[in-house]
Amino acid sequence: MWFVIFTLLLFLVFVISVSWTDRRGAPWVPTTMNTVRKMLTMAEVGPDDVLYDLGCGDGRTIVTAARRYGARAVGIELDPLRYIWCQMLITVLGLRDRVQVIFGDFFNQDLSDADVVTCYLLQSTNNKLEEKFQRELTGGTRVVSNTFTFPGLQRVRQDGDARLYLIRD
Ligand SMILES: C[S@@+](CC[C@H](N)C(=O)[O-])C[C@H]1O[C@@H](n2cnc3c(N)ncnc32)[C@H](O)[C@@H]1O
Repeated sequence: MWFVIFTLLLFLVFVISVSWTDRRGAPWVPTTMNTVRKMLTMAEVGPDDVLYDLGCGDGRTIVTAARRYGARAVGIELDPLRYIWCQMLITVLGLRDRVQVIFGDFFNQDLSDADVVTCYLLQSTNNKLEEKFQRELTGGTRVVSNTFTFPGLQRVRQDGDARLYLIRD
């Protein structure tokens, strides 16, 4: 009986969190690991880079950026369940010195120290982010988006779903 109630509650929390984040930017749909690697390779992520993943989901991009590419990575996530999951993941993997996860809305976070920004959101959310990028990101910052475009930014390359943009000086 308690197991059924617990499962139903968990399901309810999951449905609420997905529909809530959908309205704030995008629902949770993970990028495939193949595309994560494509995005990070295309942006030439390295040990000197600070990478931000906007809506970091289950943490796959920030963890890969730190473990495979040696970057310092910051994930921003609005969903409490996925935020807690990411905190546990980086602790278990011993990445707390290189990876940080912020609980909150990426529209309210300062991105000005980013060298690379990654995202997998929606077209309407990308459109709203463009103005923030132009205001906060310095020239030369690389922006890599899965699937959705940034029409006002300079597109440099595309490989499958991964699209690389450069912020102009
Ligand atoms: C399509 S998923 C991508 C997850 C991950 N970046 C990946 O590529 O696998 C979008 C994520 O953004 C989060 N999200 C949506 N709007 C947000 C906002 N305004 N601030 C922070 N996170 C947000 C969602 O909770 C979800 O985990």
